[in-house]
Amino acid sequence: MHFHIRDYQRSDAEALADLFRAAVRQISARDYSAAQVDAWAGGVSAERLGARLGDGRTALVAVGDSDAPLAFGDLEADGHIDFLYAAPDAAGKGIAAALYDALESHARAQDMTRLYTEASEAARRFFLKKGFAVVTRRDFVMGSTPMHNYAMEKRL
Ligand SMILES: CC(C)(COP(=O)(O)OP(=O)(O)OC[C@H]1O[C@@H](n2cnc3c(N)ncnc32)[C@H](O)[C@@H]1OP(=O)(O)O)[C@@H](O)C(=O)NCCC(=O)NCCS
Repeated sequence: MHFHIRDYQRSDAEALADLFRAAVRQISARDYSAAQVDAWAGGVSAERLGARLGDGRTALVAVGDSDAPLAFGDLEADGHIDFLYAAPDAAGKGIAAALYDALESHARAQDMTRLYTEASEAARRFFLKKGFAVVTRRDFVMGSTPMHNYAMEKRL
C-alpha cells in the first residue's frame, strides 16, 4: 500500500475521528468486549480530537495516494504518545510502524529522553516490537464499563 507521512491539518479532524472509531470497532474487537469497544469508540468526536491534535503537539498523518488518511499519531512535548491509530485496511502493513518511527525521530531531534504511552492490547504488542517496556497494567472505568490498558515507556 503506497503512503506518505505529512503533518496533521485542521481539516483532517473529521476523517481522523472516523478512522479512530473504525480502528476501535474493527481492530480492538479482537481483544475487548462489545461494551468496551462501544465505550472507547464513543469517547471521541472530531471537535475533541481536533482540539488535542491542533494544540501545538507533533501530530502526523499517513495518507494514501488520494490524501485519504491511513493512520495517525501524536507526540506531546513531554514524550507522551496519546494517539496511534491505523485504519483497519491499513493495519498490519507497516504504516503505523513508519508513522511511529517518524514520531521517534522527532523526539530524538528534540533531545527527549523518554517516550511513554497507555497502550491497548494490540498497541502493547506493537510497542513491544518498537522497544517499549510495560510499566504496569492500568485498570479503570470508562463511563460505567471496566477497561484496561498498559502504561509503557521507552528510554531513548
Ligand atoms: C495499534 C496499531 C496502530 C498498530 O498498528 P499495526 O499496523 O496494526 O501494527 P502491527 O502490525 O504491529 O500489529 C499490532 C497488533 O495489532 C493487531 N492487529 C493488526 N492488524 C489487525 C487487524 N486487521 N485486525 C485485528 N487486529 C490487528 C495484532 O494483534 C497485532 O499484534 P501481532 O502482530 O502481535 O498479532 C493498530 O493495531 C490500531 O490502530 N489498533 C486499534 C487502535 C488502538 O488500539 N490504538 C492504540 C490506542 S492505545
